[in-house]
Amino acid sequence: MTASLPARELILTSRQIQDRVEELGQQITQDYQGRRLVILGILNGAFIFAADLCRAIALDLEIDFIRVASYGTATVSSGIIRQLKEPGIDLTGKDVLLVEDIVDTGATIVWLRDHFRQYPACSVRICSLVDKKERRTVPIKVDYTGFDLDRGFLVGYGLDCAEQYRNLPAIYSLKPLTSVF
Ligand code: IMP
Ligand code: MG
Repeated sequence: MTASLPARELILTSRQIQDRVEELGQQITQDYQGRRLVILGILNGAFIFAADLCRAIALDLEIDFIRVASYGTATVSSGIIRQLKEPGIDLTGKDVLLVEDIVDTGATIVWLRDHFRQYPACSVRICSLVDKKERRTVPIKVDYTGFDLDRGFLVGYGLDCAEQYRNLPAIYSLKPLTSVF
């Protein structure tokens, strides 16, 4: 750790995250028995979560990643998507699970859900590591939630602030000193 790193508060340990990911994997395993599950991880933030989650699911499944770029600032998304890398696999007749890092206002995930509902997939559901429910401006129900957290701007375990901190194994809140929240 260097002196230039901003103050941060530990919110979730690596152990807490791993335990919850294991539970989510078991739940998804039960719910998708006999289905053709496709995990679509949303880059970049969900890359670690999706990698851990798919290993906690005891089913045959397919995995792909989509990338979205939305208008907005470093800490607040507008939810207006200006670029989308479409999945490379055929979703026809499959059950799509969108795997997101954080649902905040809800704008991004609502856009994505509506986009994937236009595909001939059987179902589209949402799994998010963190749900910031109290900040919602667009109504959306997250089907599988890791943690309900409304405290601060979170980094670590894939979550970034200006592309930093994604590699931290735990989740921290950046202190107001450096955060706009
Ligand atoms: P929404 O469209 O407002 O729901 O924004 C969701 C996106 O904003 C997430 O996919 C994250 O990329 C980003 N985001 C929201 N809150 C945080 C946070 O606390 N830390 C890191 N990224 C965040
Ligand atoms: Mg994101």
